[in-house]
Amino acid sequence: MADALRVALAGLGTVGGGVIRVLEANRDLITRRAGRPIEVVAVSARDRHKDRGIDLSGFEWVDDTTALARCDADVVVELVGGADGPALALARATLAANKGFVTANKAMLAHHGLELAQAAERVSVPLKFEAAVAGGIPVIKGLREGAAANAISRVYGILNGTCNFILSKMEAEGRDFADVLVEAQARGFAEADPSFDIDGVDAAHKLSILSSIAFGTQPAFGSVAASGIRHVIAADIAEAAALGYRVRLVGIAEANGRGLFQRVHAHLVPNDHPLAHVTGSTNAVVAEGNFVGRLLFQGAGAGDGPTASAVVADLIDIARGEYGPPYAMPAASLADMPAAAEGERRGRAYLRFTVADRVGVLAEIAAAMRDANVSIESLIQRAAAADGTALVAIVTHEAPEANVAVALERLRGSQSLAGEPLWMHILD
Ligand code: NDP
Ligand code: HSE
Repeated sequence: MADALRVALAGLGTVGGGVIRVLEANRDLITRRAGRPIEVVAVSARDRHKDRGIDLSGFEWVDDTTALARCDADVVVELVGGADGPALALARATLAANKGFVTANKAMLAHHGLELAQAAERVSVPLKFEAAVAGGIPVIKGLREGAAANAISRVYGILNGTCNFILSKMEAEGRDFADVLVEAQARGFAEADPSFDIDGVDAAHKLSILSSIAFGTQPAFGSVAASGIRHVIAADIAEAAALGYRVRLVGIAEANGRGLFQRVHAHLVPNDHPLAHVTGSTNAVVAEGNFVGRLLFQGAGAGDGPTASAVVADLIDIARGEYGPPYAMPAASLADMPAAAEGERRGRAYLRFTVADRVGVLAEIAAAMRDANVSIESLIQRAAAADGTALVAIVTHEAPEANVAVALERLRGSQSLAGEPLWMHILD
């Protein structure tokens, strides 16, 4: 049997610990699939003395994470996190040392992926990141390899397990947002900074990686328009349900003659759409190819086992010598596609207003919509709450998004509104 693939592992938290457990539990199977053993030889994390519930005695401990790039390993696995700092220093040092690099760090890839791909290609070493998008789902492999013959026009999906967990718990149990967030954090799939999850930044990181692989464009995180679920309240979920929808945070990317469009936004998803049935920390990605048609990838989007499964799959590929350009084509071939203008899109919208419950308020909202040429498809008003406010939920007919923005602008500062309106797009 060929020599072992020697691995240095930075980060021994949720995912790093998971990698050690997967390699241990499935050692024989992995060795047979890889054609040679995969052995962790060195590890690094912040606190050498932390009890991690795993036996680290067989591994060299390296205090300085960046120094892992210089240890006697073929591949370095980075599971520390953070767009810059020790993760980026380690990535650069590893590739400069002509060693392969595996990471689950979508934040770093969103900001520095092109640079790292160029560095890896320069010295012909693997750079792999299956775990960075949708945890355990082999969506990068699916698009990079399985769908490689297709022009992909659109890729979209549920890319953040924390948000999906929160939204589906709020839906099923009528619980408050903040309460469910604490539970998501305790389960180990929220980011170190949970605002990345709930404000759509994590999903935007992942979307920029997916777009690049799907469309053959340079990663363009800066042009993803991202917002999250912080402002979704239980009443929105109830009104959406009454109208035949579920609320999901959806990342969507399209590449066409108008440019590259990338957006992460809370959407109303029709009950009969597959994404409406994705619950908990599950992720799902839909890709539309010109020959294969519509592909749906679904599975666990976060957590130690699923994410470690994707990291180890990358290691198996490397052990077999199976890898190519990180973004499915050489970095020099990735197109620098300009961002498409957001307002040119058409769609249906859900608008929720918290209003003073008095004469003329509905007329004022309806007039703003009329003046902006936005037609109302349905409208629900709920009776006044104890504080004298009422809730108005509107679904519009299809209209240019720019018109909806004009209607909301007309209402800005109106004495009739008791708070900021919420705008969610409808996935049609
Ligand atoms: P954790 O916070 O659980 O673990 C981070 C690890 O990195 C810890 O072992 C920590 O050390 C170590 N670390 C942190 N800062 C430093 C530093 N300055 N120097 C050296 N080591 C450091 O994170 P996760 O395992 O959850 O996430 C790791 C990566 O995987 C991130 O990029 C994340 O985005 C990504 N990811 C996570 C998923 C998940 O479900 N959790 C899913 C998909 C991707 P110590 O233990 O000593 O404190
Ligand atoms: N924080 C991320 C999520 C982890 O909730 O989906 C997986 O990338």
